[in-house]
Order: sequence, then structure tokens, then C-alpha cells
Amino acid sequence: MRIFLLIFTFIVFAVVSILGFRGSLSKNTPIEVFPDMDRQAKYKPQAENGFFEDGRNDRPLPAQTIARGNYLNQQAVFSPEFADSKLGDMAYNLGKNPDGSFVKKIPIEATNELMKIGEERYSIFCAACHGAAGDGNGVTKPYGVLAATYHDNRLRSVEDGYIFDVITNGKGLMYGLKDRLSPRERWAAILYVRALQQSQNASVEVLNPAQRIELGF
Ligand code: HEC
Repeated sequence: MRIFLLIFTFIVFAVVSILGFRGSLSKNTPIEVFPDMDRQAKYKPQAENGFFEDGRNDRPLPAQTIARGNYLNQQAVFSPEFADSKLGDMAYNLGKNPDGSFVKKIPIEATNELMKIGEERYSIFCAACHGAAGDGNGVTKPYGVLAATYHDNRLRSVEDGYIFDVITNGKGLMYGLKDRLSPRERWAAILYVRALQQSQNASVEVLNPAQRIELGF
């Protein structure tokens, strides 16, 4: 009983001393267990600095100079490759036609190389939620991320541009991935999603004779 009372008194004391003074103000320097980088040896913007004659921290640019990285590389801008680049290509960058509707098909050539990129990016950026087979059974499912399965008729028939838009801007619980995947990588992922859809929904007719024998049809 004595020990219990001792512990009880200690707990009451600890709770009151820790929680009881929440929100009260003090002018004293706080006790810093971890300084959390509160004080750093650095110059703050627009602060004073006695080192320079004008007393300013921020230094004006020396005459006749341009800050590094802040100018367009003229040679690149006027090169034919720049003109040919996909900068202004709406279908490629947004997955949309000029009238705002989604493009039906992936606007770049579907090559084996693109498929490889797609497979890799898919396994990095999508499989955790959508599952390796695209059936929505990713490792995050037990934690409540109910990612869509690609194997339903609606998603089989949506435009490629629509999926591009979902990857770019996200939908519901799915966050957009535009800062992580370039447009080319997004199109590659779509190519791979289409391959996954085929893999779960193909008819025997699309197989050649050798494949049919291999699969026992
Ligand atoms: C954080 C988990 C997560 C990741 C990562 C993720 N998704 Fe999703 N995705 C979801 C969820 C959740 C939904 C269902 C959204 C809804 O309908 O509210 C969804 C829906 C979709 C849909 C269907 C949209 C519709 O109209 O029903 C597509 C297509 C899709 N994701 C593709 C992808 C692709 C491709 C990637 C990788 C580039 C990806 N997702 C990455 C969670 C994720």
C-alpha cells in the first residue's frame, strides 16, 4: 500500500507538472533537450550584416552578370531538336485532344523498350497499391488502400488519355504522380497496364499455334 501511494503521488505530481503548465507563457529560455537546429550559423534574408559597407546581407548581383541556371540556353532553344521536342504537344503532355477530350491511344510508338520501362515503373510506382497483376491486391490493401482493379469492362474501355490523367493528377485516395513520372514514363506505365489487362482477359484466338500447345489448348 505504501509503495502504491508513493507511485500514485509521483504520477499525479508528474502529470500535473508536465500537463498543468501547458499553454502558460514564460520569458525564460526553454530547456533544450534537443536544440532542433533553432540556432544556426547562417545569414538570414534581408538581415543586417556589418561586414559589408552597405550593411546588407543580401548582395546585389555584380554588374554584367547573370545568376547561374537562370537563363535559357540560347543554343538549345534555337536548335532543331528543341523545335521538335514535345513541349507544346497537348496529346503527349496532357493526354488530351485540342477540344479537351481524352486521346484514345498512346500518342507515342509502343515499342518493346517502352514496355520494359513501363514494367519497371509500374512495379515501382503502382504495384504497391494495385498489385503485380493489376487486380487491386497490393501490399497496401490490408491497410485500407482499396486501389481499383484494372480488370473490369469500364477500365478496359476507357481512353488511354483518361488513365494518363489519373496517373498525372490522381483520383480519390490515389495521389498524382506527375512529379515522379515524366510523360513518357506515364505512357509507358499505361502500355504496361494495357498488357496486364490483356493478360487476364485474352481469348484463345489471339494465341499462335505454338502458344496454344504450350498452354494446353
Ligand atoms: C497509394 C496507392 C496507389 C498508387 C501508388 C497508385 N494507385 Fe492507382 N488507384 C489507387 C486507388 C485507391 C484508386 C481508386 C480511386 C478511386 O476511384 O477513388 C486508384 C485508381 C486507379 C485507376 C482507375 C481510375 C478509375 O477511374 O477508376 C487507374 C487506371 C490507376 N489507379 C492507375 C494507376 C497507375 C498506372 C499507377 C502507377 C503509375 C497507380 N495507379 C498508382 C491507389 C493507388
